[in-house]
Amino acid sequence: MTDNKRRNFLYGVAGGMGAVGVAATAVPFVRAIQPAADTLAAAETEFDTSSIEAGMMQTIAWRGQPVFILHRTPEMLKDLYGHDDMLRDPMSRAIPEVQADWMKTDEQRITRSIKPEILVVSAVCTHLGCVPGFMPTTGQKDWGEAVPIHWPGGWHCACHGSNYDLSGRVFKDVPAPYNLFLPPYKYINDTTVLIG
Ligand code: FES
Repeated sequence: MTDNKRRNFLYGVAGGMGAVGVAATAVPFVRAIQPAADTLAAAETEFDTSSIEAGMMQTIAWRGQPVFILHRTPEMLKDLYGHDDMLRDPMSRAIPEVQADWMKTDEQRITRSIKPEILVVSAVCTHLGCVPGFMPTTGQKDWGEAVPIHWPGGWHCACHGSNYDLSGRVFKDVPAPYNLFLPPYKYINDTTVLIG
């Protein structure tokens, strides 16, 4: 990973965390915003995505930060379409996306992943840094605020009501300003990703 990519990801997370201190109800899951240089250099995480069944998600740690790995089903991939008008940045064009230099096609801007079925995305809400809850079922509305009329599956952050779809794209009219950030990663074989 280049220094520029690393800086972009950390900038994004730090930006989301910057106001944690002013929100009594927000739970800060990420505290180490400025790790030492030797920590940065060593911080890579390998993960075999074949260990996750289709439709399931796992949260792993990378540099002390939670990262979601979601194995999307064909139905989940279909659920990424048809609600662009509800999203703040449906084509992933905001500044933090520049770290994903593999993101070149419209499909990649929607799936936000190198392989469509495997999403690797920061688990840190871009508002104040809570970890959103996984709400994959279409139409599920079991929380009390900021409920989209049509829920296409995704994550709901209970701290202040931000919602993200199954690509981690943020909905309009919620506190979070950005899509969930994409950590730098690549495949080192068919199924194993190297994050960092
Ligand atoms: S931390 Fe405020 S909505 Fe997620």
